[in-house]
Amino acid sequence: MKVTFLGLGIMGSRMARHILDGGFSLTVWNRSPGPAREFEEAGVTVADSPEQAVASADLVITMLATPAAVREVMIDGGVLQAMPEDSIWADSSTVSPAFARQSSEWAQTHGCRYLGIPVAGTREPAAAGTLRVLVGGAKSTLDEVRSVLETYSSAIVHVGPEADRGAALKILVNGMLAQSMLVFSEAIKMGEAMGMDRDFLYDTLPGLPVIAPFVQGKVSMMKSDDFGDASFPLELMHKDLNLIVETAYEKDQPALLAALAREIYGRAKAAGMGREDFAAVHRT
Ligand SMILES: NC(=O)c1ccc[n+]([C@@H]2O[C@H](COP(=O)([O-])OP(=O)(O)OC[C@H]3O[C@@H](n4cnc5c(N)ncnc54)[C@H](OP(=O)(O)O)[C@@H]3O)[C@@H](O)[C@H]2O)c1
Repeated sequence: MKVTFLGLGIMGSRMARHILDGGFSLTVWNRSPGPAREFEEAGVTVADSPEQAVASADLVITMLATPAAVREVMIDGGVLQAMPEDSIWADSSTVSPAFARQSSEWAQTHGCRYLGIPVAGTREPAAAGTLRVLVGGAKSTLDEVRSVLETYSSAIVHVGPEADRGAALKILVNGMLAQSMLVFSEAIKMGEAMGMDRDFLYDTLPGLPVIAPFVQGKVSMMKSDDFGDASFPLELMHKDLNLIVETAYEKDQPALLAALAREIYGRAKAAGMGREDFAAVHRT
């Protein structure tokens, strides 16, 4: 199977590396040239344009920042049109369920098949090849690409045959992630306000069953007030919260806490923390 990977950011670069190590024929493309260099050195074909990258692909995986970026590359840039008949476009970017449905329709229009394959897990599981892939789309299509997805994952969850199922589960996961971070931060500030020692709180609260386990991995950043080495950039968490709020509006389903969280992360982004880890929201 010939695999093309578009988008070599924090996640994509690590996922593509596993596909290469898995022995698949790999072509990559990234908007800015820097991240592609290590692939060039490893003998991977680095395409000059995304159209060129997909021209003979069996499977095209996109891992781009936002739905707007996916649209810009795949639709406005004519990349979907450049894909071979009956090839598979698998979008791993975090997008809304509505955008996944729209992408599936675009793919059909161009004679391609679509899978939504967002991932749960951040930079470290991506590096270790232990992401969880949340798949929306036909099982028969998933089965064709399963061996590729297995190179960077420890679990593949087929959420359902509809194109938007993976995206639906993914935004639930990120909503909980974003809100758990805020709950922890507020508890630290409240503890301090009651006269408790900050480090005591950082060392004690994450050991209690009331805290989401991922928080433990953020404590050293919080203690040093240094969020520059981002696993998951805050601006992307803000984007995901916006996807939840948009989806809630479409479904006529109030998402009060997600809406509040969106504004808190939005304020942190406006204050210049967009490319820091999302745990930087702790400062606000
Ligand atoms: N980081 C995480 O923990 C994590 C976990 C799960 C899912 N995700 C999701 O995975 C996706 C990628 O995340 P990431 O952390 O890898 O982000 P990232 O490091 O910011 O990388 C974003 C990628 O998108 C590309 N891009 C952005 N705008 C573009 C445009 N208009 N046209 C073409 N390419 C564009 C960037 O290219 P340049 O290099 O040229 O900027 C880069 O390759 C996002 O949807 C994110 O929500 C992230």
